[in-house]
Amino acid sequence: MTEIVIERLGLHGDGIAAGPIYAPLTLPGERVEGDITGERMETPRIVEPSSDRVKAPCPRFKRCGGCSLQHASDDFVAKWKISVVETALRAQGLDAPIRGIETSPAASRRRAVFSARRTKSGAQVGFHVRGSDQIVEIDGCTLLHPELLAARPIVAELAKVGGSRKGELSVTISLTQNKLDVLVTGGKPLDDKLRMELGPLAEKLGLSRLAWDDETVALRHPPAQEFDGILATPPAGSFLQATRHGEDVLRAAVLEAVGDAGYVADFFAGCGTFSLPLARKAEVWALEGVREMIQALDLGWRNAKGLKKMKAQVQDLFRNPVIAADMQKLDAVVLDPPRAGAQAQVAEIAQTKIPVIAYVSCNPVTFARDAAVLVKAGYRLNWVQVVDQFRWSSHVELAARFDRA
Ligand SMILES: C[S@@+](CC[C@H](N)C(=O)[O-])C[C@H]1O[C@@H](n2cnc3c(N)ncnc32)[C@H](O)[C@@H]1O
Repeated sequence: MTEIVIERLGLHGDGIAAGPIYAPLTLPGERVEGDITGERMETPRIVEPSSDRVKAPCPRFKRCGGCSLQHASDDFVAKWKISVVETALRAQGLDAPIRGIETSPAASRRRAVFSARRTKSGAQVGFHVRGSDQIVEIDGCTLLHPELLAARPIVAELAKVGGSRKGELSVTISLTQNKLDVLVTGGKPLDDKLRMELGPLAEKLGLSRLAWDDETVALRHPPAQEFDGILATPPAGSFLQATRHGEDVLRAAVLEAVGDAGYVADFFAGCGTFSLPLARKAEVWALEGVREMIQALDLGWRNAKGLKKMKAQVQDLFRNPVIAADMQKLDAVVLDPPRAGAQAQVAEIAQTKIPVIAYVSCNPVTFARDAAVLVKAGYRLNWVQVVDQFRWSSHVELAARFDRA
């Protein structure tokens, strides 16, 4: 048994003591003891708690791997997430003009990935136990929207019909304008018999869409999403901002950053979260790597009324970024890349005179790397809005504005 003092939190939310020794579910300043294997104290006992320690709102927190920061006060988590962004920017020699943090409310997550297994007596449905592939069955959840939580019997039915006794099903459920949109992976291979069973089951369960691996087996209603009042129907399982609140905050930041720009490019546009609302005021050039997503965006634009011109284009922006010469007419660009950031596209933008950039990021480290390139090229980082739509996890998101100095 060794005693250690936690100095800081790592990017995954674990406490870190000198060594480094990583201790989950601990906070800076806490004295903890336990057995150390390699660099980890897997089950630390708290000897002296931090004043930021709180009773976890969820009784399943210790076991369930869904959340990692419920043992810390909301105030601590907010300050810590802001500090993650500040640290990433300072590491690149940049000031951090941070406006504050917007945190999504409890019970607002609109998509969940349930784990499920067929068992002798029925099915097991829940999330993974922390650090394990066992499933913890949940009878409540502080994160999920109540309609998602109520979907557990649906997951169980799907596991009973399509789960194998050995494998584990991954069932992604999204709330839509029309009931639930469900994607199952890891189940039995889809053959004619299973197809025949799943169609009526989707009907009985009242799903809008049921997709099994990459095949849609039932489509009763279009599983549309509403982006600021404009409807688009994303392909099964494709990217969606985690909460309605998070989407609203990010969209407001993007629209504010872009201002009255007349011609805007939206890089990594997805199904149109930003492109569609932007098109109310500006001509938009939307670029995205997944063909089905850009098709959804384009169809959403065609079905909407009163939007300005939209050019929707499939393009791999890592391998084949839009070159500077093709961006000279733009008044603003929006970037919302995956965690890897937008290195190649930013290198091209840095060579333009585009007046304004709105950058939405789910990874402060790659954001800071890209921001440094823009600042070196003469852009100013005007502000950063930190966004916490993955409440009680270590994820940190942000929206930022740059202009030309
Ligand atoms: C964080 S999501 C943002 C999507 C959209 N802006 C939204 O808010 O819904 C990142 C998007 O980048 C797309 N993407 C990932 N790699 C890409 C690449 N190499 N080229 C173009 N798009 C890519 C993903 O398909 C995804 O839609």
